[in-house]
Amino acid sequence: MLCESFSNELFLSACDCLVVGLDNEWAKSEEIAKLDAATNGLLKRLIETEEISTKPLKITQIVAPAGLPVKLLLIIGLGSNENRDPSVYSRAGSTALKAIASKKRGVVRMVGFQGTAISLRGAISGAMIGCVGQDLFRKEKSLHQPECIQWVGLDAATVQAGAILGEAINFTRRLVNLPPNYLYPETLADEAIQLGRDLSIAVEVWDRKRLEAEGCGALLGVARGSVRDPRLVILRYDGGEANAPPTVLVGKGVTFDSGGYSIKPTDGMLTMKCDMAGAATVLGIMKAAVQFQVKHNLVAIIGLVENLISGDAFKLGDVLTARSGKTIEIHNTDAEGRLVLADCLNVALDQKPARIVDFATLTGACCVGLGLEISGLMTNNEAWQNEIKKTADACGEYTWPLPMHSFFTEQIAGKIADIKNVGEGRYGGAMTAAKFLEEFVTDVAWTHIDIAGPAFLDSPKSWCDAGGTGTLVRTFVELLSS
Ligand code: BES
Ligand code: MN
Ligand code: ZN
Repeated sequence: MLCESFSNELFLSACDCLVVGLDNEWAKSEEIAKLDAATNGLLKRLIETEEISTKPLKITQIVAPAGLPVKLLLIIGLGSNENRDPSVYSRAGSTALKAIASKKRGVVRMVGFQGTAISLRGAISGAMIGCVGQDLFRKEKSLHQPECIQWVGLDAATVQAGAILGEAINFTRRLVNLPPNYLYPETLADEAIQLGRDLSIAVEVWDRKRLEAEGCGALLGVARGSVRDPRLVILRYDGGEANAPPTVLVGKGVTFDSGGYSIKPTDGMLTMKCDMAGAATVLGIMKAAVQFQVKHNLVAIIGLVENLISGDAFKLGDVLTARSGKTIEIHNTDAEGRLVLADCLNVALDQKPARIVDFATLTGACCVGLGLEISGLMTNNEAWQNEIKKTADACGEYTWPLPMHSFFTEQIAGKIADIKNVGEGRYGGAMTAAKFLEEFVTDVAWTHIDIAGPAFLDSPKSWCDAGGTGTLVRTFVELLSS
């Protein structure tokens, strides 16, 4: 979908939809004054009588407004210019476009969006997200992308940057939304290979034989129940100085999580194609970061498996040997993500990284603690975690730190092996999972992000269709390019 900047002077010329961002200082806006004049005073009258609201994300649609050469005028509230929640701009972009995407549109023109560069990139990328739905396999789509989105008064570089972000987020969302019979370890690896080709960056794929040779016993343990072979994929981008230690992005790529012998009930299993969202997030970040030519060396590592049941699947009581040499007692085959990540994190150490971040739909406990809209942050290095939190806050993507007390580690002590793959009971499950991962990162600065809540929407929101959300792609691209 085409995104372009558009001149201030001509914004009242013909188009299909005119979208107006309306904040509480609308009375000072030149564009609003022009629109009001063109509509013979209608606009101000409606705002003053509160028929049109400036409240964040409130929408008013006026079909065929007299005096304007447009089929539809859509006004979306942006709220107050002081203390605005940073999510408002991106959600305004997506909410507006989602509202008009019910049918095919030509030119959609956006006016009244002013703000920091980061919030504008949010609005531009948001608009691209709002009009793309999850119905990949439906003949009659419920959402349609317009031919072109024009941004009045924004410079071309900002619009292009926003568009790169939007494409990357939609790429992540598409991977999450693909059904598990289409997207499994081999085909997700193929997506990574294709991405590497498109970006002209190096991609290395480890198949089962290589994973065995590398001693990735934890990842292979999970993979045993599936006839689909696992993969581990490494992508490399050298945008920084030669030999500068890279930032390593690690992603959990469980293309379907049945729970294994600790099987999930149907309701909990239904959406478990989303369990590769961490891997999809990492690929989305790489896509945009490389297009931006960020000045960092980056390595992406994704561990791809299916957690299924068979006569050869891993069992409760099994002991797996991870690539690091640690032995792991299996107490619950549904705590599989940490096993996959254990080996990925060990591979990450081979890269002599400056810092590691991992993304994983790791625990239901994180959703219980923080709700479905906030990702959990856990770290061995608060400076690195704070850096992430600060950028996420600026992007309006919600994150919150969780404690990493050493007593959580006592809970994962093994009886016949070094460690076990769950804590004692279900309390503190997000942290015991993180403390398990910490066993595999040595002393490298590392932050673990549990995206089990925000990565996937069970039902649609005004700003996003149900399914994958692409959460934190924007935050990390902003972080790496700042
Ligand atoms: N993939 C799930 C976590 C999850 C839950 C992701 C809900 C998205 C939405 C993970 O593999 C899992 O099953 N975790 C268990 C861990 C437990 C067995 C210690 C959980 O959270 O119940
Ligand atoms: Mn699981
Ligand atoms: Zn899982």
